[in-house]
Amino acid sequence: QRVLVPGDSAARSVGADDVAARLADALPTDTPVIRNGSRGLFWLEPLIEVERNGERLGFGPVTVEDVDDIIEAGFPASGHPLALGPVEKIPQLADQQRLIFARCGLDDPLDLAAYQAGGGLAGLSRARALAPGVIVEAVKTSGLRGRGGAGFPAGIKWETAAKATVDATYLCCNADEGDSGTYADRLLMEGDPFTLIEGMCIAARAIGATRGLVYLRSEYPDAIRTLKAAIRIWREAGLFQGLSDGDGFDIEVRTGAGAYICGEESSMLNSLEGKRGEVRAKPPIPAISGLFGQPTIVNNVLTLASVPWILEHGGEAYRDFGTGRSRGTQAFQLAGDVKQGALLELAFGVSLRTLIEDFGGGTRSGRPLRAVQVGGPLGAYLADADLDVAMDYEALAAIGAMLGHGGIVVFNDTVDMARQARFAMEFCAIESCGKCTPCRVGATRGRETLDKIIAGEAVADNLALIEDLCELMTDGSLCAMGGLTPMPVRSAIQRFPEDFTRQAAE
Ligand code: NAI
Ligand code: SF4
Repeated sequence: QRVLVPGDSAARSVGADDVAARLADALPTDTPVIRNGSRGLFWLEPLIEVERNGERLGFGPVTVEDVDDIIEAGFPASGHPLALGPVEKIPQLADQQRLIFARCGLDDPLDLAAYQAGGGLAGLSRARALAPGVIVEAVKTSGLRGRGGAGFPAGIKWETAAKATVDATYLCCNADEGDSGTYADRLLMEGDPFTLIEGMCIAARAIGATRGLVYLRSEYPDAIRTLKAAIRIWREAGLFQGLSDGDGFDIEVRTGAGAYICGEESSMLNSLEGKRGEVRAKPPIPAISGLFGQPTIVNNVLTLASVPWILEHGGEAYRDFGTGRSRGTQAFQLAGDVKQGALLELAFGVSLRTLIEDFGGGTRSGRPLRAVQVGGPLGAYLADADLDVAMDYEALAAIGAMLGHGGIVVFNDTVDMARQARFAMEFCAIESCGKCTPCRVGATRGRETLDKIIAGEAVADNLALIEDLCELMTDGSLCAMGGLTPMPVRSAIQRFPEDFTRQAAE
């Protein structure tokens, strides 16, 4: 028998360390307490699991005060009020299609033997036996698209860099997860970092990369620590060796300093070069000329972490998940006023309503749902009437929205959408890198104009001004920061017009 208590930052933030310490004190020495990754069922954290005879029984959310009670009740006590039964049968977990997160929460994230026992390394073993071009073909066949938000086909990107005939090719993992309401990258790096490292090794073999870098935000200290430790263990096990002719591939973690724009790939490359995090004009795209002018593949954590499964099971098997041109699975992240905040990995095509109502259980406050922002701070605000939209790239684009990195933030009926629109402009004004005028100046003017609208000043004229400004920012900005800020603003005006005319009416 052993007991598992998540050691990731989400569980720790609600007292998992104290629960683990109390369990270790109270349990006999033949019952070890293992710190696993999180299952991503946050409303149950700290979620402790008791493993006995191959079955994992869950209890949650557990406080230190509950620990003695649970043990006294005859651990594992199915009759205890916090007993959840077999963890794998909790509906919100059982109903997912976990390819990326399949191993997250199963064991100590730094136990390489457990990783392998759980199916880890199978994809890399297959990749080692394949020529780089065959790996690229498998990823192309899978239909895998970039999970950072833009959804560019990963295999085509890799092919561009693989064709380059130069000495150095870089592989950069973008772990600067900056979107509001998103945490999937962190959850994986803290709960199953080896899957990301394995994906990077496969990518390195495919594109002939000589060096790998993970750009990880400083706001994620636990992820930094866990990932660095995992890379060390991987290196000591000799797993970086033999990937390419030169045997030179290795991974280094670089820490960002907290600028949202450093999640944009060319700003990130500048930051990695030790320069100010400012957007570069494209072309050239990084796959042709990126870090230090060399071919560079920049992929999001989840893109790379999808690759081991694809190599193990084949591109066709991956294609079987999803819909239309959105193939495979997406990590949806529920946040905001939702009863059951959770990481949900499901095939593309599930409806937003299913995610919020069936998996999320509706609002946590019990108040009516009014708006949902999908895709981070640059994503659209949707209304209740939109909730039946299929969660895939094309269906969302068709209603003027975007999937982004899969963040879903739920708002109840107390939200003021004019203030949310103002927030979008303010966010852009603060986070703008300042390189181009539509964004640098436009966001500040936009915030001022929305202030006037909120104050009820010449509302119709100022709304027309905002529309003009949104058009200019969309068409004239150099990158998605200024180019997409109009999306939340316009969607708020379009779907919730009453919030913009309230002051004028009063
Ligand atoms: P993009 O469409 O310009 O590029 C997407 C990727 O494809 C880039 O890596 C680019 O270098 C590559 N690419 C484009 N054409 C190519 C070609 N012909 N061959 C090879 N590679 C090619 O989009 P961008 O500006 O990189 O990203 C915008 C997206 O970022 C937004 O849609 C938004 O959803 C997302 N985003 C994500 C955030 C997060 O925290 N994950 C934060 C902010 C925005
Ligand atoms: Fe910088 Fe904004 Fe222009 Fe992007 S749109 S390059 S963030 S000023």
